[in-house]
Amino acid sequence: MAELAIRGGAPVRPQGYPEWPVHDERDVEAVAAVVRDGRWGGFPEPGPRAAEFAARFAAYQGAAHGVVMSNGTVTMEVALKALGIGWGDEVLVPALTFAATPYAAMAAGALPVFCDVDPSTLTIDPEQAEAAITPRTRAIMPVHLGHQMADMDRVMEIARRHSLAVVEDCAHAHGQRWRDRGAGAFGEFGSFSHQSHKLLTAGEGGSLLCDDEELARRAHSLIDCGRPKDPEGRHYTFGANYRLGELHAALLLVALERFEAQRAERAANAALFQKLAAGIPGVRLLPPDERITRWSFYRYVVLIDPEAFAGAGNALVCQALEAEGVGAWEGYEPMSRYDLFQPGLSRLPVAVEHARRLDPARMSFPVAERAGLREAVYLDENVFRAGAAGVEDAIEALAKVQRQAAELTAA
Ligand SMILES: Cc1ncc(COP(=O)(O)O)c(C=O)c1O
Repeated sequence: MAELAIRGGAPVRPQGYPEWPVHDERDVEAVAAVVRDGRWGGFPEPGPRAAEFAARFAAYQGAAHGVVMSNGTVTMEVALKALGIGWGDEVLVPALTFAATPYAAMAAGALPVFCDVDPSTLTIDPEQAEAAITPRTRAIMPVHLGHQMADMDRVMEIARRHSLAVVEDCAHAHGQRWRDRGAGAFGEFGSFSHQSHKLLTAGEGGSLLCDDEELARRAHSLIDCGRPKDPEGRHYTFGANYRLGELHAALLLVALERFEAQRAERAANAALFQKLAAGIPGVRLLPPDERITRWSFYRYVVLIDPEAFAGAGNALVCQALEAEGVGAWEGYEPMSRYDLFQPGLSRLPVAVEHARRLDPARMSFPVAERAGLREAVYLDENVFRAGAAGVEDAIEALAKVQRQAAELTAA
């Protein structure tokens, strides 16, 4: 008889984990208040609730300005455009991230240049980033992946030495701090997603943080069809409508009230997880960098050794964990798996070079490929919101899947 739930055995945690997003009557009331007062949209930009949320969230992360918009993809496109980055420019992006990061570079007209990731954090490898700099490079986009942050000491040092802008993709990093400085408050811009699964959500939405008033103005203008935002009302940009409506902003304000308690709970339970997981054969932990001074994470990443799992890779192990009642996901494919070639770019003078550099057959990112295609297991945030018992069940599920892994790969 099979033991693993995926093969018909009894699951370790049939009751699952707490639902996400957390909501109660406060959310209902907040939305009802917007409906009643009749100001539903994001125009004139910013709406009062959008402005209030942006200011509060920026202060929480430690940035001077916040600009709220429709999602955490256009935030990065707007950041690059506000910096004047576009046709013919190159932007350094880690090879292990969501498609949104390189998409933003392309949407601005720039070429994303991929760099492999550091095996101890799965975030951009600063050595590789520096080696990829050319006279056309204008920015680095570190992505704070899973429960880690990119090495912001090295990223900022390289950026300053080569006069590059830094746009942080903080879609996983609401609440994180590096040496007591908030994620998103290091470079020229920090981008956050408020999409349904993210730690601070209204179903959709994005925040762009920055310290520079003029850059903030340009971002406001770019998301508001180019309307001028300077005091004299003279400076138009060429923008689209990426405004966020007030219904979403109202939900974000309530979510922000709950955020810090949720963050602290996850961090405490993840510390217990790290203690208990240390003995599971074939499971490697990626301890959070010691320079992370306030820990927060969207998903907690462990690496499995497929040999210790009877040859099963991360995708199959995640399916087995899901069947045991533990939310798990194999994460992003490396960028060499994506069809990145955009026909529009072939009309550029640099077309041949663009096509060559976006050809997946020419890309090689051993660390990102191993993690993305075989080893990475991202545990859902709610695994860490169910107390010590929730953590112990996740440990038991992981240990059980490893012990019984032969059931996964048997013909
Ligand atoms: C790393 C990363 N960057 C960017 C995004 C884009 O955010 P959104 O879905 O809000 O556009 C996401 C998630 O969706 C993400 O995980």
